[in-house]
Amino acid sequence: MPPAADLGRALVIITGASRGFGRAVAQDVSRAVRPGSALVLAARSGKELRALREELTESEAGRAGLKVEVVTADVGRTEDLEDLLRRSEQVFTEDMDHLVLVNNAASLGDVSRYTRDFTDPGEVDSYLSLNVSSALCLTARVLRAFPQRAGLRRTVVNVSSLCALQPFPSWVLYCTGKAARDMAFRVLAEEEPDLRVLSYAPGPLDTSMQVEARSNTADPKLKKTISDLSAQNQLLSCEESCSKLMKVLLEDRFTSGAHIDVFDV
Ligand SMILES: NC(=O)c1ccc[n+]([C@@H]2O[C@H](COP(=O)([O-])OP(=O)(O)OC[C@H]3O[C@@H](n4cnc5c(N)ncnc54)[C@H](OP(=O)(O)O)[C@@H]3O)[C@@H](O)[C@H]2O)c1
Repeated sequence: MPPAADLGRALVIITGASRGFGRAVAQDVSRAVRPGSALVLAARSGKELRALREELTESEAGRAGLKVEVVTADVGRTEDLEDLLRRSEQVFTEDMDHLVLVNNAASLGDVSRYTRDFTDPGEVDSYLSLNVSSALCLTARVLRAFPQRAGLRRTVVNVSSLCALQPFPSWVLYCTGKAARDMAFRVLAEEEPDLRVLSYAPGPLDTSMQVEARSNTADPKLKKTISDLSAQNQLLSCEESCSKLMKVLLEDRFTSGAHIDVFDV
């Protein structure tokens, strides 16, 4: 079957849309939805979000009536998740036929230390709260706010990583968080057969998270591997990786709950 030409008349909620991969997803999605759609973009940096809203509003999609709502929110804070939900409900219209949630916001965590150094449960809890609990609870809230009904497709994307599958020394927080997230979304896919659930690993991206990884990684071998990726121009652009994600979403042939890596698309 040929891929669908677009994502329909959609409400698309994207976390971590202020820069990096999330920003590229917002740009690509804006071109892939039908007139009458709405994007809800969340992150902590209001200034970057507002600049993106301006860009999208002035684009062809914006001129054709795409609504772009920005929500300055820390997804680790329950009040901010509530605000994000409220604003999403406000822009949803009954004639929308697709709900898409992209759980993209994440942090790398402290990669300057090894597992044996994480003696403080509060520090670990705080990382997991932002990177696992918030994605799980936002997804649950969105699914409750927009329940299944005839004529409404629902798709949930978990922006994952190779680290969900493979241990990277000195990246215990990040690997643990990504592995836990993948499993949470696999469980969700089992529980909700009507839902389309995708864990997408975008590959090594040329973003601020990579800069942080290059600078702070404690494990010398891993640090060299990461530095070489950049020195040898092997990092992917967000646009390149995002176009693969769009291909997977438009083809819509993935097994719900699957982990799909950019290099497999
Ligand atoms: N970069 C890579 O090589 C790579 C590889 C595999 C997977 N990934 C995954 O791809 C996704 C995007 O990564 P990236 O490289 O684009 O990272 P990035 O450049 O660091 O961007 C992260 C985004 O998340 C937002 N964010 C962070 N903490 C937040 C919070 N508490 N509340 C709300 N938003 C928050 C940031 O916005 P604010 O700072 O404005 O809040 C930003 O928009 C992540 O899930 C990451 O794990 C990245």
